[in-house]
Amino acid sequence: MKMLVVLLLLLSLGNAIKLGGEDDDRPCDSKLQLKPRPHSVSILEFGAVGDGKTLNTLAFQNAIFYLKSFADKGGAQLYVPPGRWLTGSFNLTSHLTLFLEKGAVILGSLDPSHWGILEPLPSYGRGIELPGRRYRSLIYGYLLHDVVITGDNGTINGQGSVWWDWFNSRTLNYSRPHLVEIVASKDVVVSNLTFVNSPAYNIHPVYCSDVHIHNISVSAPPESPYTVGIVPDSSDSVCIEDCSVGMGYDAIVFKSGWDEYGIAYGRPTTNVHIRRVQLQSSSGSALAFGSEMSGGISTVLVEHVHLYNSLSGIQFRTTKGRGGYIRDIIISDVKMEDIGVAFGASGQFGSHPDDNFDPNALPVLDHITLQDVIGTNITMAGKFTGIQESPSLPFVCRISPCQSIPVLLPIVGYVHMFLVLPTCFLIHTLNGKAVAL
Ligand SMILES: *[C@@H]1O[C@H](CO)[C@@H](O)[C@H](O)[C@H]1NC(C)=O
Ligand SMILES: *[C@@H]1O[C@H](CO)[C@@H](O)[C@H](O)[C@H]1NC(C)=O
Ligand SMILES: *[C@@H]1O[C@H](CO)[C@@H](O)[C@H](O)[C@H]1NC(C)=O
Ligand SMILES: *[C@@H]1O[C@H](CO)[C@@H](O)[C@H](O)[C@H]1NC(C)=O
Ligand SMILES: *[C@@H]1O[C@H](CO)[C@@H](O)[C@H](O)[C@H]1NC(C)=O
Ligand SMILES: *[C@@H]1O[C@H](CO)[C@@H](O)[C@H](O)[C@H]1NC(C)=O
Repeated sequence: MKMLVVLLLLLSLGNAIKLGGEDDDRPCDSKLQLKPRPHSVSILEFGAVGDGKTLNTLAFQNAIFYLKSFADKGGAQLYVPPGRWLTGSFNLTSHLTLFLEKGAVILGSLDPSHWGILEPLPSYGRGIELPGRRYRSLIYGYLLHDVVITGDNGTINGQGSVWWDWFNSRTLNYSRPHLVEIVASKDVVVSNLTFVNSPAYNIHPVYCSDVHIHNISVSAPPESPYTVGIVPDSSDSVCIEDCSVGMGYDAIVFKSGWDEYGIAYGRPTTNVHIRRVQLQSSSGSALAFGSEMSGGISTVLVEHVHLYNSLSGIQFRTTKGRGGYIRDIIISDVKMEDIGVAFGASGQFGSHPDDNFDPNALPVLDHITLQDVIGTNITMAGKFTGIQESPSLPFVCRISPCQSIPVLLPIVGYVHMFLVLPTCFLIHTLNGKAVAL
């Protein structure tokens, strides 16, 4: 068994070298150059009123429709001056910069009929919270190229508490909307803004390539049900850096579709780089993978992260019927403070979209490396639950120098201890329970 541990460790080191190489094109290392747009209009020119009461959906829609004509002339900027700009959902267009000045606040309408309804994403087959269709996000993009949502720390406020109440009282008619959802698009930048109180997710790039999320702050209160920060979903070449995210549920979570729908759609989340982020999750995990991961999640590098005041630090979630994989993940230079469970992996997490999932579609977790982690006030170091039918759930935790520890997890009751010990463990599932060998 020791041999196996060493072998897996070497495989995982090989990956570390590949991902960490200098000549590599890690998404955050490619220099982000925002070209100034040759044309700019203010939302005021389209009759918008920033009193927090007037509904400005048409002003946003008309302004963006007008700016479409500049797409082949270097693109254009829609400028939002200081004020409180109430709006329903509106669609972005290609080669557009939405710029929120300091003091500009976009407010999501409290009337669900202002948000519009969309078909479900094909990789999910239905809304996440309710079967059928779902609300469109406040700021929505479909099939775009070169779109930038930025500003001088303007704010996008979803006014989500009405949605949280409807969710809690089960009076929603469709799954809740997000603040920003960009679908099937390329070259997407979200930067220099503050996002608060989303009805559900804040930033949801799905089926996208080349996404750069930089220097944003995202928050929702602890009691907000299942509010989520940033969700790279069936997307590739994603950089998330210098962000601070504090949510009711997960702060950053990787996804790639749900059971048979995600397997059929077959688009993984891959080549993701996250660095210098501060993450907090009141009732979920600061950093999470899954549980919807049926298209696969691979080649992820997370470094220099601070996880604090969270129920869980890092969680890998899946279940029977998901298929897919989570592999080639490196998480390094992690500081954890005041965390319930530092690391978790569960093979029995989440529900199914419907009864048509394939119970034989077993997910695979492979080549997962956690290194250089320090923690203070950690209640439980690890909690691992496997899948009974799955022969193994290989998992490598590397804190050099490595030494195998023959313990049953969870390790309960350590405070200040965690990973001060040099530890390395390989998790196998035995009769549905995980053991470290
Ligand atoms: C916004 O995009 C959605 C989905 O593509 C579409 O159904 C809707 O009609 C668009 N709205 C406007 C105002 O263009
Ligand atoms: C981050 O955004 C703030 C405003 O929110 C700005 O003052 C600061 O310069 C930005 N930092 C970087 C590195 O872009
Ligand atoms: C950005 O705006 C938010 C909300 O208005 C504020 O709390 C925060 O201090 C601002 N950040 C910077 C760097 O100015
Ligand atoms: C759901 O639909 C019912 C019937 O149309 C309506 O009365 C109710 O306000 C809707 N709920 C929400 C949260 O939109
Ligand atoms: C963010 O704001 C800073 C300070 O204004 C600016 O230098 C930088 O280019 C902006 N970055 C992005 C990606 O918008
Ligand atoms: C330890 O962390 C928990 C959260 O897991 C927190 O509630 C508690 O206040 C922290 N204790 C100290 C002494 O900071």
